[in-house]
Amino acid sequence: MLSAQNLYVHFDGLVALNDFSLTIEKGEVVALIGPNGSGKTTFFNTISGFVSPERGQIVYNGAKITNIPPHKVAEFGIARTFQNLELFPYLTVLENVLVGTHCRVSMRQALWNIVSREERQRQEFLALEMLDFLGISGFEKSRPAGMPYGIQKLVELARALAVQPRLLLLDEPAAGMNEQETIEMSRIIREIRNNLGITVLVVEHDMSLVMPICDRVIVLNSGEKLAEGKPEEIKTNPAVLEVFLGKSYAEGNRA
Ligand SMILES: Nc1ncnc2c1ncn2[C@@H]1O[C@H](COP(=O)(O)OP(=O)(O)OP(=O)(O)O)[C@@H](O)[C@H]1O
Ligand SMILES: [Mg+2]
Repeated sequence: MLSAQNLYVHFDGLVALNDFSLTIEKGEVVALIGPNGSGKTTFFNTISGFVSPERGQIVYNGAKITNIPPHKVAEFGIARTFQNLELFPYLTVLENVLVGTHCRVSMRQALWNIVSREERQRQEFLALEMLDFLGISGFEKSRPAGMPYGIQKLVELARALAVQPRLLLLDEPAAGMNEQETIEMSRIIREIRNNLGITVLVVEHDMSLVMPICDRVIVLNSGEKLAEGKPEEIKTNPAVLEVFLGKSYAEGNRA
């Protein structure tokens, strides 16, 4: 479904992705893990058109999508969430989710505001359906500013789902969530794949969330692929353990 080959991205002398390649098959839930600063978000930014790779190419269902702008990537059926919530605080929840459905409206329609009443109703129905799917119906008229963080994360997820993607990229969906919300998030990710038929690539630090739900894990370290395999293989991979244990030791020493 998605094949990224030999991506190379650098920022002012810092190599963020170094010949990084990854493929995802339709129907998979794949986890992308790695220490802070290893290039996970940069990879998402590159796939979704926010960052242009200097080398390498991205092919999605046979189409070359390297260097195309974010709204075009969404039109291809790839949606994402952001590590730092990117909601519009002064729009209502419903309006925020409708931003997602608008990705499916042509530029001409959007520019001239000639979306028919039926189309508008259809989009609203879809947005409300997504809020219901995520268990946050009733919040549609509220504004995200001031809402609990866990709910805001779900609103952002609803907006990504409203794009009606076939591939969903989730950047740390459980960051900042409590234990109960994290358990709920893993259930939701499973349902997104099983019930909505959407392929998922998820970046997450919380291993208790990703390990039980993913089919495959890819480990990034300093912009390079360190390991790839089934969750149980990755959990016992010595090179992976060294990178992660080394990090937690370092954090323990700082505390
Ligand atoms: N726009 C940018 N300009 C300059 N440097 C950047 C930019 N975006 C990312 N970087 C750098 O690239 C490296 C990879 O960052 P990235 O955000 O992809 O890491 P990450 O794996 O998502 O980390 P985290 O787990 O902390 O979210 C880091 O050293 C980061 O500082
Ligand atoms: Mg990141």
